[in-house]
Amino acid sequence: MLQLSGVTKTFAGEPLFENIALQVRPDSRLGLVGRNGCGKSTLLKLMMGIYQPDGGNVSHGYGCHVNYLSQEPQLTPGLTLYEEMKQVYAVVDTLRAEETRILESLEHLSGDEQTEAITRLCDVQEQVNRYDLDTLDSRISRLLQDLGFSQTDYDRKTDDFSGGWRMRINLAKVLLEGADILLLDEPTNHLDLESCEWLEQFLKGYPGGIVLVSHDRRFLNEVCTEIAEVELGGVTVWTGNYSDFQRQKADLIERTQSAYDRQQKEIAKQTAFVERFKASANRSTQAKSRERQLAKLERVETIQTDQSRMSVKFPPPQPSGREVISLRDLKKSFGDKHLFKGLEGDIERNQRIFLLGENGCGKTTLFRLLLGLEEPTTGTIEKGYNVKLGYFSQNQLETLDAKKSPFDTLHETAPLMTHTEVRSLLARFLFSGDEVFKPVEVLSGGEKSKLAIAKLMLTGPNTLLLDEPTNHMDIPAKEVLAEAFKEFEGTILCISHDRFFIQELATHIWEIYEGHLIQYAGDYDYYLFKRDELRAKTLEAAASKAARDSRKITSVAVGPSPASKGSQPSPLQARKEIEKKLTRQEKEILRLEAAIAELGPQLSDPAIQQDFQKLQALSESLESQKTLLESANAEWETLTAALLAHPSP
Ligand SMILES: Nc1ncnc2c1ncn2[C@@H]1O[C@H](COP(=O)(O)OP(=O)(O)OP(=O)(O)O)[C@@H](O)[C@H]1O
Ligand SMILES: [Mg+2]
Repeated sequence: MLQLSGVTKTFAGEPLFENIALQVRPDSRLGLVGRNGCGKSTLLKLMMGIYQPDGGNVSHGYGCHVNYLSQEPQLTPGLTLYEEMKQVYAVVDTLRAEETRILESLEHLSGDEQTEAITRLCDVQEQVNRYDLDTLDSRISRLLQDLGFSQTDYDRKTDDFSGGWRMRINLAKVLLEGADILLLDEPTNHLDLESCEWLEQFLKGYPGGIVLVSHDRRFLNEVCTEIAEVELGGVTVWTGNYSDFQRQKADLIERTQSAYDRQQKEIAKQTAFVERFKASANRSTQAKSRERQLAKLERVETIQTDQSRMSVKFPPPQPSGREVISLRDLKKSFGDKHLFKGLEGDIERNQRIFLLGENGCGKTTLFRLLLGLEEPTTGTIEKGYNVKLGYFSQNQLETLDAKKSPFDTLHETAPLMTHTEVRSLLARFLFSGDEVFKPVEVLSGGEKSKLAIAKLMLTGPNTLLLDEPTNHMDIPAKEVLAEAFKEFEGTILCISHDRFFIQELATHIWEIYEGHLIQYAGDYDYYLFKRDELRAKTLEAAASKAARDSRKITSVAVGPSPASKGSQPSPLQARKEIEKKLTRQEKEILRLEAAIAELGPQLSDPAIQQDFQKLQALSESLESQKTLLESANAEWETLTAALLAHPSP
């Protein structure tokens, strides 16, 4: 049993919550929900003893072992996966040393001291037994397998795993160690669908109590039988799963509101009566009695809810060319691990492409290649005209400085903004008061993500690379973000496991499947519909290409093929030729548009208007640029039509 009574927690003089009471039983399935920054992680840290309350107390039942999965990955650098898993048992060595120490000291102790030492000895021995060391290796293997690791991963350094897998290692460690009560802070953030389902089942059958922080409605519904909502500094507990909670809360708000409305109506009626007859000779006694009743009346209070809503709007960026990014025969290997087997793909302006694939298939690596943070093993990445990339990293501390405040972070990104402008931008992301001066490292997971989005907005990108942007975000924030990205006048390439978000935004899906890139020219439903068919076709095509390549090698050995000389260009070559011309044409159009935009204001300059010769030269130049623009646009249209006549094979 774990109990919080009258708990208050304050940061820098500001109360986060006051007088909280909460109980976790050995069989609890308690979902902890609430807006970003409301205090969910802080509550778990209080339960774990990482933070101390400023008032009230947190008590664990006798011998109750509590274990905790933090929201951020915490691994020891330099260890392999298997070594990291065994770290869970490093504590056993410490416990055994303590056991020996107590045993040695017992004969020198007496009375209360001896009783105390014996109690501690029993406690230590019980803890050692719980670790069940005889079955350790088999339990580690089974758990790692269930969480999607393979045998070949065991000797890999944990630093080499992707963000998603690093979180899984943390989760595996917590589940391996187990506890009477497990505290899990957003465990599904980095899990793909399959692993989420596995975890659901695991937690449902878990023999101890569970407190689960999550913004994932589906997961909460599956696992929880009780919901504690943290809101406006208080906690309310509801029976049932997340949907039950939502229904009950909506009902309560509605019932309270109508009781409030009824009471207000009645109060208004009675007050009018009192006002009217207070001075009346006949009815003043009645009026006074009603006034007394009114004063004693217990007032119905409406239910206060957190109505704050983030507001995000990306300013229109300078447009890029039509072709944004082209990948040609892109391969990437780490040692003998080959991530991509020759990726080919084109991203066009204003597309919103969602990049899917299992954890560790190389999605983040592809982003790092696009950003130039890593070099491909072979192949090329070409960026189109005027492409300006903006990156939202899976790990916010890659793009934010932990020691700086939100205010300094934004001010340094846009030094021309005034202090008031920076503060009002931060307020749109729900940072208010002195919060804007806290160091980033103490911000909640969702707050860090929001700050990273605000920073991204200020850099004016026309092409966004978003790596799991909704992780850590609360439900209203996800909705606002989906709207903002929908209205963004640029191109988006996004990695996400969030079905709501993909469904809302994707115009195209790219899937990395067994090292191949499969492109679905449609939304998420189209992807689900076509997935099996296109996966099978891709594997078939790859197998026959491999067979062709091996035949080609044979023919090269006997001399060049006679058909290759002076033949017509293939449909693919013809398409590429048209695409090249289109790109050139787009650059020309942008150049001409810029020149025309510059000439316009010059013509209306009063100094030039008085100089007839200059005025004439400028007017002629403007006319000729306009004519060139017209023909460039016409040529662009012809090329676009030609491209449609040469569909990709
Ligand atoms: N050590 C600290 N010093 C100052 N403020 C802190 C500290 N730790 C947390 N906070 C603040 O307390 C608030 C609650 O943080 P917490 O991490 O508990 O939120 P949360 O509910 O888990 O949010 P999220 O859903 O984003 O993870 C935040 O505003 C955070 O900035
Ligand atoms: Mg949190």
